[in-house]
Amino acid sequence: MEIDVAQRPPEGAVLVVPLADPPGSPPQEVDGVVELLSSHEASSDRGSARLVQVDGRHVVVAGLGSREELEPDAVRDAAAAAVRELHATVGGPAALLLDDSLPLAVGEQARAAVDGAVLGAYDPGAWKTADRNGRPVERVTLVGGADADPAARRAAVVAGWTNHARDLANAPASELTPETFADRAAEIAARFDSVTTEALGPDEMRERGMGALLGVGMGSHNTPRLIVLRHEPAEPAHPDLHLGLVGKGITFDSGGIALKPALYMEDMRGDMSGAAAVVAATGAIAELGLPIRVLTVVAAAENVMGGGSFRPGDVLTASNGKTIEITNTDAEGRLVLADALVYARDQGATHVVDLATLTGAMSRAMGDVYAGVFANDDDWRGQIVAAGEASGDHAWPWPLHPRFRRFIQSDFADIKNHSVRNQGIPVYAAEFLREFAGEGPWAHLDIAGPAFLTWPRGDYLWQRGGTGYGVRLLAELASRLAAR
Ligand code: BES
Ligand code: MN
Ligand code: ZN
Repeated sequence: MEIDVAQRPPEGAVLVVPLADPPGSPPQEVDGVVELLSSHEASSDRGSARLVQVDGRHVVVAGLGSREELEPDAVRDAAAAAVRELHATVGGPAALLLDDSLPLAVGEQARAAVDGAVLGAYDPGAWKTADRNGRPVERVTLVGGADADPAARRAAVVAGWTNHARDLANAPASELTPETFADRAAEIAARFDSVTTEALGPDEMRERGMGALLGVGMGSHNTPRLIVLRHEPAEPAHPDLHLGLVGKGITFDSGGIALKPALYMEDMRGDMSGAAAVVAATGAIAELGLPIRVLTVVAAAENVMGGGSFRPGDVLTASNGKTIEITNTDAEGRLVLADALVYARDQGATHVVDLATLTGAMSRAMGDVYAGVFANDDDWRGQIVAAGEASGDHAWPWPLHPRFRRFIQSDFADIKNHSVRNQGIPVYAAEFLREFAGEGPWAHLDIAGPAFLTWPRGDYLWQRGGTGYGVRLLAELASRLAAR
């Protein structure tokens, strides 16, 4: 989908009119809309969208809900609903009217509308041979407000990369193995002069003592990879600041010997959503040309049962020398992240963020909207939360505390990977990671809830499967760091 900004709707475009309750002054293009409202043919209900005829012209009226409570997510919902209505009816191109009488800056409206249109148009059915998305909406023009131009263009780049992350997350584990994931990263690096890539295989991991990542990955014929992307802008705004983005890249999580139940196990192909987010965010940062140094590290492995699988009772040695007693092979994410975090620090990352579909308990606690954020530094956690709110990737702070450490105290090794106590699961997982996060600011986003939808959310992310959670947050974080 192409996005552009204009002062007038292009000839032949279907008008999309976002409507709040109460409606403002009707845009001059469509004075018939107010009559439609009173005839109940159009609605301002949040998330509703309906194709109507005004003076012989096609118009989609998209509801924003309460004017007073208008927030960016309502604009996202309206734009997505409008695009879906067009897919189901006449298709595009479309012209969406921005409204400077709304209590949301026009640039913010543009940004949210682009998110909603691009993410709402995403088709998860890439493997269908028929019955695809419906009529195409090849272009959306945002109308009104020259200020909207940079915001819209930036949002279009980031939303495009968000959909890229969704493609990676939705891909079957037979297609996206650790090895082919590395190829996909290399394709991104090939597109940008500022980006280089490398992938460590099992031999290089052994040399570096990455026993935790190797332990998880060696049960599969699809052997693990540590995938690295580096974005090195010619003139970084802060040469001493090196942003480290670390992603959990479990291409399939069967639980290993601690096998998961079958119901929805197919969704565990999305257990690399954190990795997809950091890789796609690197693409977004490069395409936006952000003057900030980025080191992206993905721990990619398949957690399955095989003759080479690690077992409960095994002791793995991570690359920082710490020994880990395995008490549950299904708590594998923290193991692969341990070696990736150590590597990121070793390569000079000063400010680290990891993204991981780490615990089912986090999604039980936070549902499908918010990720939980843990950090060893209050200011860094605050920056992540703020970037999340500004971008639409909502994140909420969670605590770390040394008293949680006793849950994962091992009698046999330095630490164990799982506690039998059914308490505080996301928190002691984060405490585990802290032991490998090194010195300097580090934050951990447990994205198990919002990253991959078992049940569609019913908003602008109406599709089942990958949402690309984290791409928008990380692009926003990098922009803010660069502008600081
Ligand atoms: N990948 C899962 C977590 C997960 C579950 C993400 C459901 C998204 C949806 C993770 O590797 C896992 O299996 N976690 C265990 C941890 C437990 C063994 C401590 C879990 O959540 O049950
Ligand atoms: Mn698991
Ligand atoms: Zn997992």
